[in-house]
Amino acid sequence: MNDVTQFSAGLSVLEISYILASILFILGLKMLSHPLTARRGNFLAAIGMTMAIAATLLFHEKDGMPIGNIGWIIGAMAVGTVIGWVIAVKVKMTAMPQLVSFFNGMGGAAAALISMMEFPHVSPELMMKSGMANGHVLAILLGLVIGSVSWAGSMIAFGKLDGWIGDLRVKAMKYVNLTILAFIIGFVVFIMTRDVAASAELTHLIIILFVVAVAYGVLFVMPIGGADMPVVISLLNSFTGVAAAMGGFLYNNQAMLTGGILVGSAGTILTVLMCKAMNRSLLNVIIGVFGGGGAAATSAAGSIKEITVSDAAVLLSYSKKVVIVPGYGLAVAQAQHICHELDKLLEEKGVEVKYAIHPVAGRMPGHMNVLLAEADVPYEQLIESDEINPDMPNTDVIVVIGANDVVNPAAEDDPSSPIYGMPIVRAREAKNIIVMKRGMGKGYAAIENMLFFNDKTRMLFGDAKSTLQALVGEVKEL
Ligand code: TAP
Repeated sequence: MNDVTQFSAGLSVLEISYILASILFILGLKMLSHPLTARRGNFLAAIGMTMAIAATLLFHEKDGMPIGNIGWIIGAMAVGTVIGWVIAVKVKMTAMPQLVSFFNGMGGAAAALISMMEFPHVSPELMMKSGMANGHVLAILLGLVIGSVSWAGSMIAFGKLDGWIGDLRVKAMKYVNLTILAFIIGFVVFIMTRDVAASAELTHLIIILFVVAVAYGVLFVMPIGGADMPVVISLLNSFTGVAAAMGGFLYNNQAMLTGGILVGSAGTILTVLMCKAMNRSLLNVIIGVFGGGGAAATSAAGSIKEITVSDAAVLLSYSKKVVIVPGYGLAVAQAQHICHELDKLLEEKGVEVKYAIHPVAGRMPGHMNVLLAEADVPYEQLIESDEINPDMPNTDVIVVIGANDVVNPAAEDDPSSPIYGMPIVRAREAKNIIVMKRGMGKGYAAIENMLFFNDKTRMLFGDAKSTLQALVGEVKEL
């Protein structure tokens, strides 16, 4: 290490930069947990990442030699930055989940590529030392497997969310998946214990491992559908984090290790929370067997009743307590601003307005929080569904805006329903129910919603934005 970059405490500029970058990642992640600080948190983490990359390019040395191929590295980064920037600027809010899935897949692919490139370079001595104790080789193999599963799975999830890949649900699939998983574990152990002169001789085995891991990634996401996608996306996200952490371990790169561990653990915590919200077990997620997606659609029974905009305006204006349930349709219609205008108008009239936030409303974790924060709805007005449910019988009007699955009573009443067991916003317990949607279209899980046929329900058909605009006009007149 050269003298200029080495401090007296023994830490190099590179190590100090990595520690600072890690601190920025941690602070950034902490700030992401609240809508008010999330933007700054994201910015801080981005500064940390820039710092880690710059320090690596400037100060990293191997055997006294600085990093080579700087031109190629900067060129590739420039191309990636431009593509990422353009996609992120152009993406519609409603296509955000697909984008997250795609970007996550790229992270997995990068981790898998690192392993593929590094494995043939493992020295004969290291390979000979081998055995299960050889953490270096194990990190390479795990990075390859987890990164490949994450890449393939995320690409399938991307296709599903974008609507061009359907579900493939065959009963035997869980056994096929378990067999492949067992094969992968066995194969990793087999490679680790091979007594050969150099890892280069095992390169063909690495390619087999890669192909099988990709197949597992595809097959494990294929049967998952309906309301269960969020869980699998968050699980894949944690996989990418773990795969990146393997790279950090491999290169002895503290920033990469911390970043990977943070993504891995945050993704795992989110997966567990999602599982709880969806009432699914994590084991079912891993072996890819749980259902969803319309298999048990019930037939519509009874008739629906409609309400006019002016009647809805009167009902809302003379209520004491109103709860709004935002859903995916609110995001599609981009009606968050006008929705907030309605709630402000009602509050001016003395009505208490709260939003019931379901953990999987919309199409990505925290979708409704982000959407409503964009419209400056005060955070205190957003109440988690399990917190607001006990107050439902005292609610004069519940207004369901572009939501469907998250208020579907089948989750509580119909054991054959693919969403059975998922906690819901108990809209049917409110005194009056207004549902705003364009028609009788189904939600993500593609099942009928008996709430629309409830005696207390009045449908207010139309695009959420135009309906809300008309409603705001009427409320202003009262
Ligand atoms: P959904 O159940 O998907 O229902 C959305 C409803 O919005 C549809 O029934 C549709 O009915 C209506 N709609 C669409 N465009 C509209 C517009 N412009 N104006 C008014 N209404 C419109 O939404 P949800 O209740 O938010 O539930 C989310 C679902 O997505 C859950 O099943 C969840 O598991 C799944 N999911 C969630 C995530 C995450 S992490 N949040 C990720 C993937 C999947 P019309 O066609 O009749 O208008």
